Amino acid sequence: MRKLTGTLALSILFISIFMFASSDQPASKLRADYDGLAMTPPMGWYPWNTFGQEPQNERLIKEMVEALLRSGMREAGYAYIGPDEGICFYRAEDGKLTTNLERYPSGLRGLGDYIHQRGLKYALYTDAGTLTCSKAMPGTKGYEFEDMRQFAEWRADYLKIDWCHTKGQDIVQTYTLLDEAQRGAGRPLVHSLCSWGVGEPWKWAAAVGHLWRTTGDICEPGKADWNSAIEIVFANEKLFAYAGPGHWNDPDMMIVGMPGLSEAQNRSLFSLWCLMAAPLIAGNDLRQMSESTRQILTNLEVIAVDQDPFGFQGHIIKKDGQVSIWGQKKLFDGSQAVLVFNQNNSPSEVTISWEELGFSREASLYVRDLWKHQTNGPITRGLSLTVPPNDVIMLRLSSSRDFPLPPIVSADTYLLSLRGKSSRPEKLSASLTIHNAGTVDLPLWKVHGSPPSWLSVKITKRGKNQMVTNQINTAGLSSGYYHTTVRLDNTEPISKRPMSAFYYDVEIEVK
Ligand code: GLA
Repeated sequence: MRKLTGTLALSILFISIFMFASSDQPASKLRADYDGLAMTPPMGWYPWNTFGQEPQNERLIKEMVEALLRSGMREAGYAYIGPDEGICFYRAEDGKLTTNLERYPSGLRGLGDYIHQRGLKYALYTDAGTLTCSKAMPGTKGYEFEDMRQFAEWRADYLKIDWCHTKGQDIVQTYTLLDEAQRGAGRPLVHSLCSWGVGEPWKWAAAVGHLWRTTGDICEPGKADWNSAIEIVFANEKLFAYAGPGHWNDPDMMIVGMPGLSEAQNRSLFSLWCLMAAPLIAGNDLRQMSESTRQILTNLEVIAVDQDPFGFQGHIIKKDGQVSIWGQKKLFDGSQAVLVFNQNNSPSEVTISWEELGFSREASLYVRDLWKHQTNGPITRGLSLTVPPNDVIMLRLSSSRDFPLPPIVSADTYLLSLRGKSSRPEKLSASLTIHNAGTVDLPLWKVHGSPPSWLSVKITKRGKNQMVTNQINTAGLSSGYYHTTVRLDNTEPISKRPMSAFYYDVEIEVK
């Protein structure tokens, strides 16, 4: 009887893990069902890995914004950017979070506006306990609702919430309360949990957030560490069943391009992050990026694997000594991504059969090398490859010669700010453009819900891009300030998967 109960309990556990884990149909409600965010892994840049707390300030973040734009990373999908721990706010006597104006003279709202106007999204950092990790800044404990309202006022689009100084706090209850406070604050944002795997967030956090750290920090600030990154890779790999659209395992911000790593190591890490559908938060100094790093971070064929609408986390299907073959990453067009990672200090010969990848032996497949940008085939049975030392070969296999890229979306601005010129009724207009760096054309974006009476939104196609025209009519409005956040929705047409909701702000000042 005991045995039976045990078996039954085990099967229930497996069934529930499977249901929850499946990218197709998570059993419980997701936070992303509520806000439509992070349907593919978030992409952006965060300062911690290179800078630690110093010298994080407004100037540094703005320089990084400009460097990101110059590098072409925005068009490749990188969007979220902002300060990590580094005294950007303090708690004033009245309990309110207040900008540290010495470091951020435009205020944290001013920095957010700048970031939005440059076509990027605003990321901020806080902690679930009484203090942030180095005790430099206040945590949210006891101020959850006030603080989330403040982050909404600063117009954050992404919030990383650390787990330092949380003695005695229940982790599920704490992050659930923070989720409730975020929803209550009324501005949808990506909730990034940072408990380094403490409390096994992959088992419960999809209901309250969009991504969770699975391990400790990837490096000490400024000290990229290949071995620690590889340990993290293998720990994160095991959790593949828990990831999917709107809920991601986060193996930490990337170290690609930091001093001390070779080009092959950078390429390997980036490929591994993408095959695992990991959030792509760059951590290198974008102002001094080499051309090789820039090309790695903006390789659209590899990014397309990460940003695939099905959101499967690929994992190891075979490991022989220091050589691992990674697959089980079915992509939106029916193709599959495959990665071979050679940790030897010498080249390794590898043979892969179509059968071990889940294809039939006689399948006739085209093979696309995602780093060399070359297609071979059609080929039957399998492949033999020579992988250089500490390097990868990343492939996409398909029965068709076509290797479409899913939509990779960016915008020229996320903030339209208008001022009326007269007290008489006026018609104002402002537009933004949604770019798509993928090859799959998107249907027209649709406005979610109804905008306020003073705003009408029209969307038109411009080739693969779309123009969002906003007509504002001030008739009937008394003088003052008006603001709304518009949400647009779309569906990727091949997989029929929802795109991440697209949010932008419109504000007007009426005379
Ligand atoms: C923790 C996080 C890091 C970083 C630091 C800031 O260690 O895991 O990513 O945010 O805190 O102190």
